[in-house]
Amino acid sequence: MESKIKILKSKIAEAKLGGGEKRIETQHKKGKLTARERIHFLLDDASFEEIGMMVTHRSNDFGLENEKYLGDGVVTGYGTINGRLVYVFSQDFTVFGGSLSETHAEKICKIMDLAMKNGAPVIGLNDSGGARIQEGVVSLGGYADIFYRNVRASGVIPQLSAIMGPCAGGAVYSPAITDFILMVENTSYMFVTGPNVVKTVTHEEVTSEELGGAMTHASKSGVTHFACANGIECLNYLKQILSYVPQNCEEEPPFVPYEHAGSELRKGLNTIIPQNANQPYDIREVISEVTDAESFLEVHKHFAENIVVGFARLAGRSIGIVANQPAVLAGVLDINASTKAARFVRFCDCFNIPLLVFEDVPGFLPGTDQEWKGIITNGAKLLYAFSEATVPRITIITRKAYGGAYDVMNSKHIGADMNYAWPSAEIAVMGAKGAAEIIFKNEIAAAKDKDAKWKEKEAEYQTMFANPYRAAERGFVDEVIKPEQTREKLIKAFKMLENKADKLPKKKHGNIPL
Ligand code: HXC
Repeated sequence: MESKIKILKSKIAEAKLGGGEKRIETQHKKGKLTARERIHFLLDDASFEEIGMMVTHRSNDFGLENEKYLGDGVVTGYGTINGRLVYVFSQDFTVFGGSLSETHAEKICKIMDLAMKNGAPVIGLNDSGGARIQEGVVSLGGYADIFYRNVRASGVIPQLSAIMGPCAGGAVYSPAITDFILMVENTSYMFVTGPNVVKTVTHEEVTSEELGGAMTHASKSGVTHFACANGIECLNYLKQILSYVPQNCEEEPPFVPYEHAGSELRKGLNTIIPQNANQPYDIREVISEVTDAESFLEVHKHFAENIVVGFARLAGRSIGIVANQPAVLAGVLDINASTKAARFVRFCDCFNIPLLVFEDVPGFLPGTDQEWKGIITNGAKLLYAFSEATVPRITIITRKAYGGAYDVMNSKHIGADMNYAWPSAEIAVMGAKGAAEIIFKNEIAAAKDKDAKWKEKEAEYQTMFANPYRAAERGFVDEVIKPEQTREKLIKAFKMLENKADKLPKKKHGNIPL
């Protein structure tokens, strides 16, 4: 037995070296951790159990039969994060550039199947040159096997993708189907084809960073939800996200014990809204006053900054926040803001995370650019996402709730459970100036002093509609509250809604306007 154990030990040592010391050194020189180091930092100490360490590829083309590495470029298994079970795959760039072979794909599929059967999240640590070029179609088949499982798992278990190196070709589409993507600045790239192919096809000269770096995808395309300064920060973000999220769609999100620390009144909220309704303020200040201290984790921070989304805790409970941001483009809803918020709403609804909406929105952004790119279809995504969400839903109207955006931003009409307004709320079809111009057109035109008449009519409309009381009279607003009461009211209301049971009509699935 002793000699046999010796063989086992040497095989384990070989597997742990991946593509060899030299390539590990190169990986470190690029400022990247190895696949195993990443797992070590991500999971609780000594919790990792590896599956498939001895797997090798089956290819005999291009001399590959003479180049085999135990594990075949991906480390797979399970372990715990803060004591909760997760499944992990971590691609090893030191083996054929982390490229995906038939067997590499089989290993990933195996842990995805286990994750589905056992109801726990899957985390992918991606660092891959895409399809293993020498393997041809079997590699493409392997990708499709993963994509298929990603889709089956969508909404059943949380799926998180960290992009920690180059991810080209097929390597980008699996992450794109998962719930959240995190990228590392300066060492990770995502693109369907790299700068060389781009140059050949479109004659554009572009660097990898410009084409598909972390900040490009965080701010321009919105493909990634987080741009992280380095690998460790990225792994820490993964842990943080999971702290708000249940293990699967049948479970409730984790609850952090909450010590009631004195009054829940937040006086600071009374002075956040500027005197002039056209002046901006930062909605993040409202969020941080209302939610538990230091609990807000912003998602998609650099993309469509006119809307803010993220996770937080309220008296220890996980909530998802969607908030118009008056400090950017006056908080207007455009295509990017609508799709960003819609995707977040749907994630929260999949995983039983109650939704809190802060509303201060002048409407949808007008103009040819938005119309031609489809603000109608894209704005409808947000309307659809809120309307189908069955989790507890509460809205706070802090200031403007104008036009179609009033309906869309989680109004009572589309299923919000509770709707509060601050006394500063203005709930109307549009701003007073525009409204006066339209409905008093003839009167203004006939007046001697047109400007004075316009101002008079604007003031008339302002007095009549630029307040929350018309909506409150109808019951569209449940209560007009002092801003300082917001946290207290929300804690009570979410507690009241904790057993909410609501179901969509029986259907195969809805048809969201994609
Ligand atoms: C096999 C690969 C590989 C691949 C890299 N390697 N990509 N081996 N298949 N796809 C190997 C290299 O030969 C090299 O081996 C090692 O990995 C490291 O690669 P380098 O090029 O030295 O590293 P670097 O300079 O950091 O560049 C990384 C890279 C580049 C940007 C990922 O390697 C690259 O462009 N690779 C090809 C990307 C690609 O076009 N993939 C196919 C996409 S098509 P040695 O032995 O020297 O260490 C696709 C279709 C799926 O994926 C579609 C599904 C929808």
